[in-house]
Amino acid sequence: MKIIPQGPKHGAAIERLLDLTFGHHRHNKTVYRLREAAPAVPSLSFVIERDGQVVATLRFWPVTLPNYAQALLLGPLAVLPELSGQGMGRALVNHGMAEAKAQCWPAVLVVGEPAYYESFGFSRRVAERLRLPGWVELPRFQAAELIPGALEGVDGLVKSGRPAKPAWVRKAEA
Ligand SMILES: CC(C)(COP(=O)(O)OP(=O)(O)OC[C@H]1O[C@@H](n2cnc3c(N)ncnc32)[C@H](O)[C@@H]1OP(=O)(O)O)[C@@H](O)C(=O)NCCC(=O)NCCS
Repeated sequence: MKIIPQGPKHGAAIERLLDLTFGHHRHNKTVYRLREAAPAVPSLSFVIERDGQVVATLRFWPVTLPNYAQALLLGPLAVLPELSGQGMGRALVNHGMAEAKAQCWPAVLVVGEPAYYESFGFSRRVAERLRLPGWVELPRFQAAELIPGALEGVDGLVKSGRPAKPAWVRKAEA
């Protein structure tokens, strides 16, 4: 199984796969509020193809922590149902997390099946002081630090998109 970067030709196939696995109402979920202000991180957008068709996808979105540091939101992660249980989900998450770490992202948030994500190092405890812009089942909201301590004492609302530059930086750059 080969994980490849998402390219322009994959967009429509990814949307079809996500409709199939999560349903058409997926856009109503709180995690989609966190994907509104910016596109997915291009260097952290992956697919697996079989016979030229997209059969699995994983992307990460940039979010802003309450302390104005940046972090990632993992997902959506989806595997074509008839190919589930073959390790594609695990391979994509392991690859994505390793790449995120190599690209120096400090932390990753996820809303998903707790047992599945705990096996990749996510925990509810690390996300306990964070809030999301909408309702989620709290046990499903977890986080993993890629830089140890990145989420220590970080308390409050997570926002969509990359951190805005502080006013004094914008002024200095003008
Ligand atoms: C969840 C999903 C991505 C898993 O992908 P997959 O390729 O079938 O998973 P893998 O083959 O990599 O499974 C890896 C392991 O996770 C386990 N696992 C799979 N789904 C799980 C779940 N919902 N909860 C706990 N463990 C799960 C498998 O049993 C397997 O365990 P093992 O390694 O000990 O044998 C896939 O089933 C899917 O697309 N589901 C629908 C969309 C979805 O729910 N996405 C996740 C959003 S949070």
